[in-house]
Amino acid sequence: MSFDERAEVWDSSERRQKLADAVAKAIVNEFELQKRFELLDVGAGTGMLSRRLLPYVSSITGVDTSKGMLEKFSRLGAKAEGVLCDILSYETDRKFDGIISSMTIHHIEDTEALFHKLHSLLKPGGFIALADLAPEDGSFHDHGNSGVYHFGFDEANLRKLAFEAAFVNIKIENIYTMEKNGRYYPIFLITAKNRDPAEEAR
Ligand SMILES: C[S@@+](CC[C@H](N)C(=O)[O-])C[C@H]1O[C@@H](n2cnc3c(N)ncnc32)[C@H](O)[C@@H]1O
Repeated sequence: MSFDERAEVWDSSERRQKLADAVAKAIVNEFELQKRFELLDVGAGTGMLSRRLLPYVSSITGVDTSKGMLEKFSRLGAKAEGVLCDILSYETDRKFDGIISSMTIHHIEDTEALFHKLHSLLKPGGFIALADLAPEDGSFHDHGNSGVYHFGFDEANLRKLAFEAAFVNIKIENIYTMEKNGRYYPIFLITAKNRDPAEEAR
């Protein structure tokens, strides 16, 4: 079943709502979000994560490959703008204060290219905060594994990819455990920053 087909009922899952609560809380605890911030939500979906962070910032741009999911995202109001495209092909002159994401990066095959792309979209001193699955046995997606390129992520490898893409202050923390069909799936948040030469010179 595609994300377009699932968009209508996506938000009705209590499990997803609780996860979005946990991811938003972890991001708010980690970074001092500011009213002037412009954020980018990668694989924003219906806006489960963006909805929770919009009150803290100026705007959130949601990039997603699913028209159905983005139709819901666009209902978040004037501060939320949806962009229909693959994040790896997203071209813009804008730079963001922060990039957030929840449960999307396992759907993107080339994680190395993803980290480089995200780095190129950040202002100096900007941050990433990406939540996803710790290594799992392939049982997480009960709709099948089509479009799933990673059965979770190995922490050391993820850290290496972020480092090689020139991120600094890289941290990976388990922030939640999702219970699904009697199994338990740990969810991590990787946070990191783009270097800020001006800050380093002070
Ligand atoms: C599991 S959903 C998560 C949606 C939302 N972040 C949430 O927590 O409810 C993954 C989302 O990523 C989108 N997606 C998958 N691959 C993508 C890509 N390469 N670029 C942008 N979005 C993508 C899908 O269309 C889907 O909306």
